[in-house]
Amino acid sequence: MVLLGPPGAGKGTQARMLREVANVPQVASGDLLRAAVRTKTPLGVAAAGYMDRGDLVPDELVLNLIEERLNAPDAQAGFILDGFPRSVKQAEALRAILVRSRGAGLDRVIALTVPDEEIVRRISGRRTCRKCGAMYHVTFEPPRVNGVCDKCGGELYQREDDSEETVRNRLKIYDSTTRPLLDYYGKSGILALIDGTGKPEQVESRVQTALAGILPLPPRKKVQKPSVRPAGK
Ligand code: AP5
Repeated sequence: MVLLGPPGAGKGTQARMLREVANVPQVASGDLLRAAVRTKTPLGVAAAGYMDRGDLVPDELVLNLIEERLNAPDAQAGFILDGFPRSVKQAEALRAILVRSRGAGLDRVIALTVPDEEIVRRISGRRTCRKCGAMYHVTFEPPRVNGVCDKCGGELYQREDDSEETVRNRLKIYDSTTRPLLDYYGKSGILALIDGTGKPEQVESRVQTALAGILPLPPRKKVQKPSVRPAGK
């Protein structure tokens, strides 16, 4: 499945929650690119400038990265794509990759909708752990100790591309290049538009409803047989 939505819509938050339920990996193009930048691979060096400006990284850099990740053993039973595809051209490339490697297409595309003012609020408060990648929000989901990850004690930082100017550019690019995917997937009948406002758990429940029939069912509760009482007692 694919999670679509503007920057800060909660794609990463929802993908992390869903991967526990679906037992398939989250494949986040932004995380893969940031890892390449951090480790200074040739791809990371080439991608860094685009990411700092909030521009899309050229397809020839992103497509190989995604294809390689989707071909990894842990993604064979399924995957949650987060942040990819971001254009109709990428969606067509994804379709070709999936048909080539597994003879099947996507099950579902979930598009999260969140108003722009809420996006700016979410992005400006986002903090990420340098060590384990856990995510927080200074107001909505603060860590126990300011600046320190609850999970591993790592340092929390603000992403370089979360400045107001860069976020505005990312929103502009979403409107011009990524939004047309709503039409593209709408026509194929696999798109679900989900209200991304409210608490993360509320959004998760809407997403899970839209994934009925795709996600494994929760374990069935044991039905207690009524105890048979001897007559007259
Ligand atoms: P990427 O990392 O994909 O960034 P993005 O799409 O802009 O999305 P974000 O990660 O900012 O937000 P999100 O929707 O995941 O929200 P999150 O869950 O974090 O891409 C970065 C860059 O990489 C791009 O600009 C581009 O340069 C490049 N790139 C990536 N993919 C590419 C591709 N396919 N092609 C070309 N270039 C590519 O939530 C945000 C905050 O809100 C968090 O603090 C969270 O705690 C909080 N929050 C989440 N849900 C809620 C809620 N319900 N209520 C309150 N707070 C919430």
